[in-house]
Amino acid sequence: MTFPADRPATWFVTGTSRGLGLELVEQLLERGDNVAATTRSTERLLQALKADTTRLLALAVDLRDEEAVAQAVRKTTERFGGIDVVVNNAGYGYLAAVEETTDRDVRDMLDVQVVGVWNVLRAALPILREQRGGHVVNVSSVLGLTSVPGWGLYCAGKYALEGLTEALAGEVAEFGVKVTIVEPGYFRTDFLTTDSLALPDDTTAAYPAIREMVENHLALQGNQLGDPVRGARLMIERVVSGEGPLRQILGSDSHAYATAKVQALQANLDAAAATASASDFPA
Ligand SMILES: NC(=O)c1ccc[n+]([C@@H]2O[C@H](COP(=O)([O-])OP(=O)(O)OC[C@H]3O[C@@H](n4cnc5c(N)ncnc54)[C@H](OP(=O)(O)O)[C@@H]3O)[C@@H](O)[C@H]2O)c1
Repeated sequence: MTFPADRPATWFVTGTSRGLGLELVEQLLERGDNVAATTRSTERLLQALKADTTRLLALAVDLRDEEAVAQAVRKTTERFGGIDVVVNNAGYGYLAAVEETTDRDVRDMLDVQVVGVWNVLRAALPILREQRGGHVVNVSSVLGLTSVPGWGLYCAGKYALEGLTEALAGEVAEFGVKVTIVEPGYFRTDFLTTDSLALPDDTTAAYPAIREMVENHLALQGNQLGDPVRGARLMIERVVSGEGPLRQILGSDSHAYATAKVQALQANLDAAAATASASDFPA
């Protein structure tokens, strides 16, 4: 099944009251598609939306709660008769040194960025598989490909998301289900505001560079290179066309960081090539 051209498509999008998620919902409603939009605050979503909401199903969902997610998917199929596209967009940043990151911080991040996505997939995939078509878009980050000091926990979540998504793409291709990983660079959303960016309760004096990084990132707000309107448009076009690579980089900053990572990884592989086979059983 390709993207429906003869009827409005139905999208299930998570994390929609702000940023890229909100922009996606706005543009999808303007296209005339159906949108099931999950959020922690339907009030914030409805206040923020400018588009006609006739085709909107706003759903207050805690993504960490498997039953709540399953119910949201059921409500979506009851209202719209099916689901064509799933966009796992919800996520937040966290900036701290690895040793400053508490057990609670780790579990909270992985609950949203990994367990939450898994809850959505477990509920939605049977629908896509049985109708033999659909598209899953998982919003990762360039930090799902490359890791930098201070972003250890966020990267752990996004690397995990990339790992499961790459496996998923191989599993569902035979059912006609497409999968895309989106890897934005810095986008001008709420991501770098204190409303979104999480910080540790306690810090140590050992990491002044990370404290400076926090200040620099908060100061970057409003000057990020990525335009969420263009980013959301590109994501929609990508799904509608059904064309493109597994990984959709968004932003020239993201492309540069990813390229540097691939080059460093290749250099690492080359340097390890001679010794890698030393652990094999002899022929
Ligand atoms: N902006 C960037 O620079 C950037 C770069 C790379 C990747 N990304 C990724 O892009 C996606 C969208 O982020 P954004 O830039 O649009 O940021 P944003 O403006 O802060 O919006 C994030 C959205 O994620 C949801 N969310 C945040 N924390 C959550 C939590 N603890 N539990 C459930 N939902 C939560 C929120 O949904 P509700 O409040 O409606 O529940 C919100 O609408 C995220 O996955 C992010 O990691 C962003």
